[in-house]
Amino acid sequence: MAKAKIQYSCTECGAVSQKWSGKCNDCNSWNTIEEVIGSSGYSKAKPSEKGKIIDFFSLEGKADNAARFNTNIDELNRVLGGGLVKGSAVLIGGDPGIGKSTILLQVMAKIADSGLNAAYITGEESIDQIRLRAKRLNVTNSPIKLASATNVSDIIATLNKEKPDVVVIDSIQTMFINSIESAPGTVSQVRMSAYELINMAKQNNIAIILVGHVTKEGQIAGPKVLEHMVDTTLYFEGDRGHQFRILRSVKNRYGAANEIGVFEMTGNGLSEVTNPSSLFISGTAGKVSGSVVFPGIEGSRTVMVEIQALVSPSTMPTPRRAVVGWDSNRLAMILAVLQTRCGVKIADKEVYLNVAGGIKISEPAADVAVAAALISALSNVPFAADSVVFGELGLSGEIRPVSQFNNRLKEAEKLGFTSAIMPKQEKKNNKLDKNQNNDNFSGSQDFIIKEIQYISQLKEFLAIEE
Ligand code: TYD
Ligand code: MG
Repeated sequence: MAKAKIQYSCTECGAVSQKWSGKCNDCNSWNTIEEVIGSSGYSKAKPSEKGKIIDFFSLEGKADNAARFNTNIDELNRVLGGGLVKGSAVLIGGDPGIGKSTILLQVMAKIADSGLNAAYITGEESIDQIRLRAKRLNVTNSPIKLASATNVSDIIATLNKEKPDVVVIDSIQTMFINSIESAPGTVSQVRMSAYELINMAKQNNIAIILVGHVTKEGQIAGPKVLEHMVDTTLYFEGDRGHQFRILRSVKNRYGAANEIGVFEMTGNGLSEVTNPSSLFISGTAGKVSGSVVFPGIEGSRTVMVEIQALVSPSTMPTPRRAVVGWDSNRLAMILAVLQTRCGVKIADKEVYLNVAGGIKISEPAADVAVAAALISALSNVPFAADSVVFGELGLSGEIRPVSQFNNRLKEAEKLGFTSAIMPKQEKKNNKLDKNQNNDNFSGSQDFIIKEIQYISQLKEFLAIEE
């Protein structure tokens, strides 16, 4: 065997270099370069090796629809695009204590109960800890094969023999390969362990679920290649202070990305929330200023979310701005547009924005709802409780149309709202929009739609005196 070469790799971005330095040249982070031994991962074959001729195929052919297991948890099936695909690799990331191990034990119990061979390998907890959790979840009778191991070679040897239908590895950051000298959790260990495990799973047609830790910033810890290697990446989000948890697909080779599943953490595990659309509304809209309901689209679902704003005077030269559940850059942009295009004097105020219920939203369609919450908070005038608001805001203060407005309106009406403030939509295009259900929104006569074109028109609805 060739002598292993010493290289240096960044723990943040995984960039490989030949010499050590204090700062990574690729991602500019400090003190992240560490020594790794061995090749950079995949280059097992030397370029000089004589290659075999590979075959080419035509696009046409018998492609079986991916065979799937029913996980017996509908919210999870939905996020996976209709069930867990045989032989696929899934990565689940999320904050510590959010419930990754809990949901996976529940899923494996259901899969094992349905007669399939399910294995759960933990590198983080002892067998007794898992047994305690199983007791809590009331799944102790389920025929799951449980093991506690961290050595990848041992795990691969076992799985090659056992050939389960599904295996959970909790977590990939605790796994290690003996021949790599760095500690478990480092870039080279995580990359190689994942590569070996996924390879083994694909060869044996085992569906593999890897649990991944996340960094402070909420990214999956370790190399970005981890997310490239797997077929599906799911994030488990939510606030530990709240009981609701959202499982979101950010990448899915077998289904739609950005689909969400909603769960509730209870005393005995996670239970599904099948109709979450009114879950994130606290009921303060209309009673307190600064609270506005936004009909959001998450994957194939419409979810009503409450946006809450608080504006208070500041004595600081740079007033404080804090956001929970939304993008802070987008908030800065909306504040600037309100100040410049709408004459709202907000630049010298402290601003706090919160999306209620612990859900995170990223749609630009929420811009106008955020603006409405800010204006309402600043002027101390409560926003109409029976009204929803949506629309994208441009830098000149114009309000742009958004996708799926029919679905937003339908859901709003279903939940008892009676009016909507929304952008002027081009009616002609409705029929061509494949994302919409084909029939246009035909709400009852009582449902009032107020179309606005400029952000300054928002003030009319709040009856603000200049
Ligand atoms: P866990 O699945 O261990 O989180 P992760 O694997 O993502 O780190 O979740 C543990 C948390 O969930 C812990 O704070 C206790 C709570 N919990 C419940 O509230 N009810 C339950 O039935 C279980 C099993 C856990
Ligand atoms: Mg865990």
